Amino acid sequence: MTDPQRKTAAASPPVRRRRDDATRDLVAVHDPSGAASEAYKMLRTNLFYALIDSPPKIIVLTSANLGEGKSTTTANLGVTLAQADKNVLILDCDLRRPRLHSMFGVNNTRGLVDILAGGDRIEEVWREPIPGLKLICAGPPPPNPAELLSSRRLVEFLAEMRRRFDYVLVDTPRIGVSDSAVLAAHGDGVLLVLDSQRTRKGPLRQAMRALRGVGANVLGTVMTNFDVSRGGNTPYGYFY
Ligand SMILES: Nc1ncnc2c1ncn2[C@@H]1O[C@H](COP(=O)(O)OP(=O)(O)OP(=O)(O)O)[C@@H](O)[C@H]1O
Ligand SMILES: [Mg+2]
Repeated sequence: MTDPQRKTAAASPPVRRRRDDATRDLVAVHDPSGAASEAYKMLRTNLFYALIDSPPKIIVLTSANLGEGKSTTTANLGVTLAQADKNVLILDCDLRRPRLHSMFGVNNTRGLVDILAGGDRIEEVWREPIPGLKLICAGPPPPNPAELLSSRRLVEFLAEMRRRFDYVLVDTPRIGVSDSAVLAAHGDGVLLVLDSQRTRKGPLRQAMRALRGVGANVLGTVMTNFDVSRGGNTPYGYFY
């Protein structure tokens, strides 16, 4: 994690962690009152006020490029919503390069793939890493991710999840991978994550075009990797 979350961590008592330990990105758990966690709470508030008449329940997070902070934002926003007593499901739909299991420190031996392809019961697959927050990992990489994610079974599964949860946060690959467009079309709203230091206008416009092309409802953008010294915080959400 780069600034300011690293700066936030530096201000807290030192915590011994391995450098490759993805759980360090879960700031909403181990630094709940830090600046980054406050920023996730702001994002949560924005979400509460989005589309008052038909509040979005299935929220798909995607981005124009690799590594812009989709998984980190999904995980921390999920924790933050659960901390506000919402009943939340996080769904790892990045079947090619899943990361959420590492962030929550659980294994990826079973997941969405087993529900969609294997017919496993949802209750046998999900975990509850923190009270009020269920996590369905991706599961072992399937040979046909695009096919699974465009299946009728997925649509039925999402409809059931919409009934059972206040919020379903869906982590996806970058928008150039067809999986994301399909998922964006099935969600109630999309949050487009962008890296404030790296994302260029061209790919961003292309991503917006792709999302509009599938009829996705883009709720807003989440800017990550903000430089606090320039007056920002991280992440920062703009809602339309
Ligand atoms: N708000 C943020 N501020 C600074 N750095 C961040 C922020 N969110 C995530 N990062 C860092 O960016 C890197 C990529 O994060 P993450 O895995 O969440 O991105 P991603 O968009 O899901 O990547 P991929 O496209 O591979 O799925 C990680 O090293 C993470 O620590
Ligand atoms: Mg990711």
